[in-house]
Amino acid sequence: MASVKLKTNINRLNGKIEIPGDKSISHRSVMFGAIAHGETTVTNFLPGEDCLSTISCFRKLGVRIVEENGRLRIFGKGFEGLSEPSEVLDVGNSGTTIRLLMGILAGRPFFSTLAGDQSIARRPMTRVTGPLKQMGAVIDGRKDGDYTPIAIRGGNLKSIHYQLPVASAQVKSALILAGLQAEGTTTIQEPAETRDHTERMIRQFGGEIQTDQRLITVKGGQRLRAAEVHVPGDISSAAFFLVAGAVIPESEIVLKNVGLNPTRTGIFEVLEKMGANVQIISNDPDSFEPSGDIVVKSSNLTGTIIEGDLIPKLIDEIPIIALMATQAKGKTIIKDAEELKVKETNRIDTVVEELRKLGASIEATADGMIIYGQTKLTGGTVSSHGDHRIGMMLAIAALVCDGEVILENPESISVSYPNFFLHLHHLIQ
Ligand code: S3P
Repeated sequence: MASVKLKTNINRLNGKIEIPGDKSISHRSVMFGAIAHGETTVTNFLPGEDCLSTISCFRKLGVRIVEENGRLRIFGKGFEGLSEPSEVLDVGNSGTTIRLLMGILAGRPFFSTLAGDQSIARRPMTRVTGPLKQMGAVIDGRKDGDYTPIAIRGGNLKSIHYQLPVASAQVKSALILAGLQAEGTTTIQEPAETRDHTERMIRQFGGEIQTDQRLITVKGGQRLRAAEVHVPGDISSAAFFLVAGAVIPESEIVLKNVGLNPTRTGIFEVLEKMGANVQIISNDPDSFEPSGDIVVKSSNLTGTIIEGDLIPKLIDEIPIIALMATQAKGKTIIKDAEELKVKETNRIDTVVEELRKLGASIEATADGMIIYGQTKLTGGTVSSHGDHRIGMMLAIAALVCDGEVILENPESISVSYPNFFLHLHHLIQ
């Protein structure tokens, strides 16, 4: 296991960075390119490990995908163009790959198996396999089909009316992708609004989907046609630098090309409530996925409460928000976030354990955490636990530490942000 000595004691971050492509949208661009008819081109695709896993799975399903001059070309032949894979589909560390792919494979009249790394093997799959079985797919897996490896024999799906028990865009998207192949009209009711990239992408690929008061309606048997997709920067990646700029004195950072889909911008509400100096300086609201440039400057922060329907709009940003809270005056409470327990790691445990090692005053609760600020962070040896967002959060935490910080297992960062350290060092110089 590799480790790296992190930069500490930084008193200024300055400069401009181009935020790499959105992970959720990059996955979906490959999937929709594969199930549509014709040649789809994708620009600003995120070449992170997770999205490369999606490409590799679709190649095993017989889809031609080539990279040319920084663009991805996907030669889709419709759902019917997918063929039975002769190997296990390896999703690596990617929950989005496995869950959305299960929705596609549930409708295909062939046999396939899916597996990933040790983290994927611990993440619950019944939330997807349960309703897909109700639609008619034959699915099995370890522990009654809840865990990988998962085997699917799909085909002949019936539509479903399904109330999602948890707010999850991955589950919603899997059911939409199955619904597109089912007989009849599928409806899905969400308990809270979650990221709507799948819905937007269906429309971009010439399909129809209705959304009204968190009720999603999609007809089966639609024919999607190839599209041109430009992937905006990932707000979840930008979040690390938004917080870095806010907590380090004398900083000014411009983040270019950040996705501003309103189902993803919960972090802005938190930054505003905590008193951060953040501004959107230009934006392109008309694109199928809105985006813009953001400037962040060092700020005097105060604690806040983060809860309820806001949680799904910032679920992936909670590790870095927790770090920000250590640098804010007063108490920050994060609740209604039990879902953190089933991410790449149990992020309630890993955030609390690792930030404590650096001297933070933070405690875990049943559905979140409480952070007491403002603390001077010290130093120590910390671990990403193989979770990219924990690794990046710790690298930003180190910047405000006054002792030495060693990060174990930093490689996991390439899951979503291969150039993370390059960008960080650019801002330090
Ligand atoms: C994602 C949905 C979220 C998020 C994940 C990506 C997606 O997961 O945490 O990083 O692309 O649909 P859940 O659906 O489990 O909430």
